[in-house]
Amino acid sequence: MEIRALQTRDAARCAELEQILFPGDNPWSRDIFAIEFSHPHTFYLGVFDDEGDEEVLVAYAGMAMLGPRDDPEFEIHTIAVDPEHQRRGLGRLLMDQLMHAADSFDGQVFLEVRTDNAPAIAMYEAFGFVNQGVRRNYYQPSGADAYTMSRPSRSEREQ
Ligand SMILES: CC(C)(COP(=O)(O)OP(=O)(O)OC[C@H]1O[C@@H](n2cnc3c(N)ncnc32)[C@H](O)[C@@H]1OP(=O)(O)O)[C@@H](O)C(=O)NCCC(=O)NCCS
Repeated sequence: MEIRALQTRDAARCAELEQILFPGDNPWSRDIFAIEFSHPHTFYLGVFDDEGDEEVLVAYAGMAMLGPRDDPEFEIHTIAVDPEHQRRGLGRLLMDQLMHAADSFDGQVFLEVRTDNAPAIAMYEAFGFVNQGVRRNYYQPSGADAYTMSRPSRSEREQ
């Protein structure tokens, strides 16, 4: 397994996993991923597995930095693990990287998650996220509700 920053050539595989993992929630296309990767204030990482001669992307995550560089906030845009590789610590590995980046800027982190997504909610709570409320019909076309969750900055957690 190798973890590294995602590039345009990885966008098609991300879109393929997205179709599998978020079929009713407007899965992102290859083009959307490519734009996200090229944005100057996003941070996208992938986990690659060696499958024979081939390296296959099996998990990815991305986060955006918002606001002024000396006092930024962060927003997790996506995190996903190939169903065949779930529950092996890859989600945690990617979250560790994202939270390390946010903590290095002492930033608060926000995200949305489907209210029925118990595995993801458990993972976020394990990383110190707390529920801030519900956004009705947030996901389309499914109409599923989302929780907004946030994680205090490092200095806020240490108070
Ligand atoms: C959520 C997701 C990214 C977790 O990735 P993963 O690699 O399977 O998770 P890990 O093995 O690293 O587990 C990390 C923690 O997540 C939680 N978790 C993961 N899967 C879980 C499950 N099926 N049930 C309950 N908790 C679960 C646990 O707290 C776990 O910690 P533990 O192993 O100490 O119990 C993965 O389930 C996934 O890709 N889901 C589909 C996409 C998705 O919903 N993304 C989030 C959108 S907001």
